[in-house]
Amino acid sequence: MVPKRILLIIGGGIAAYKAIELVRLLRKGGYVVRCVLTRAGEQFVTPLTLAALSENKVYTSLFDLKDEVEMGHIQLSREADLVVVAPATADLLAKMAAGMADDLATTLLLATDKPVLAAPAMNVRMWLHAATQRNVATLRGDGVTMIDPDEGEMACGEYGPGRLPEPAAIKNAIDKALGASGAPAALTGQPDFAAADHRPLHGRRILITAGPTHEPIDPVRYIANRSSGKQGFAIAAAAAEAGAEVLLIAGPVALPTPPGVIRVDVETAREMAAEVAQGLPVDAAIMVAAVADWRAADTAAQKIKKDGSGAIAPLALAENPDILAGLAKSPARPPLLIGFAAETNDVLDHAQAKLDRKGCDWIVANDVAADPMGGETNRVHIVSKGGVDSWDRLPKEAVARKLMEKIADELDARVPIDAD
Ligand code: CTP
Repeated sequence: MVPKRILLIIGGGIAAYKAIELVRLLRKGGYVVRCVLTRAGEQFVTPLTLAALSENKVYTSLFDLKDEVEMGHIQLSREADLVVVAPATADLLAKMAAGMADDLATTLLLATDKPVLAAPAMNVRMWLHAATQRNVATLRGDGVTMIDPDEGEMACGEYGPGRLPEPAAIKNAIDKALGASGAPAALTGQPDFAAADHRPLHGRRILITAGPTHEPIDPVRYIANRSSGKQGFAIAAAAAEAGAEVLLIAGPVALPTPPGVIRVDVETAREMAAEVAQGLPVDAAIMVAAVADWRAADTAAQKIKKDGSGAIAPLALAENPDILAGLAKSPARPPLLIGFAAETNDVLDHAQAKLDRKGCDWIVANDVAADPMGGETNRVHIVSKGGVDSWDRLPKEAVARKLMEKIADELDARVPIDAD
């Protein structure tokens, strides 16, 4: 078998020392490894160490590629089967997302036509920063496989997500990306969550509704709202990352299906209600959709014509079923039932009232006074009978991940997995 080739780009950061062990594991696994060190990376590991372990020349600068004749940067970027960036610093991710090419590493990343896998590592605040999360989302959208950083104590003394995963976990992700471990081909080029080894929702089935609903008036017109679906999709992505089996029931939105998620598209509230009923039983249901409260009482079979009289047009509305409240009362009520509420004022009071009215376990109250629907961040309060848990304004992806941790803890307390 022809050995697979890895181009390993090592960014600058205290975690760069783990790249040494990664090279050793990759060589042991039969891979051919070529290393590229960024200028910052050189502050942490030496080209000599990497050359000795990889048994290959180490490249550091675009301009001292004297062997541009022997091996041009385009060739270097394409001869590998997989380009791996580890550690991928916040700076490197930003440059990758922006398509910058101001040194050897970024030039190779822009010039390559091969799959790219990145293992981010940075301070927790830098990781959770909206800019980094935006860059990560962009890179995922561009097809880069991102390994989620590990959570724990950091070199800087803070605690949280941001640590480079262990070299063995990165090597696993590389094996999978290259199909070396027999993983289905569909997994390659997609985020590899198993590699992060943090799957608190493994074995759980989670149903999520997302997006708006469209309620037809006639064949060309409908009633809608401004929901973008982004938060619901981010939650579905995070639930799948956390190992859950995820059923996403989506209203009309033009968003890609997150990896590993089963998606059913619907248009109206009544279709959504029917699909929710079909999707049961589940361990948890998270109702993020902005379901239209009303629909046209009668949908015209043909386009309604104006008569030119200037008279007020009659449009009778009928109330839609409340999917969340209905689910709360159903015999198949999930053990954990979560509603969302976008509120502009008296956020906590409205959320408390909604919690009682709907009969769910938590309301994730979204304060949209400063930032209406459709933005990239949310400031949420988790309101339950036990009290209120208020979070800082965070990118929607970060809200989703934090919510998954909370849900996993709650499910572990309520429905231990062994009891199933
Ligand atoms: N919801 C639902 N079915 C509906 C309306 C709402 O399942 N017909 C769910 C939403 O998905 C969300 C929660 O109920 O999880 C709260 O939605 P919201 O629109 O805030 O509730 P309403 O009862 O419509 O309250 P408001 O009067 O504030 O619009």
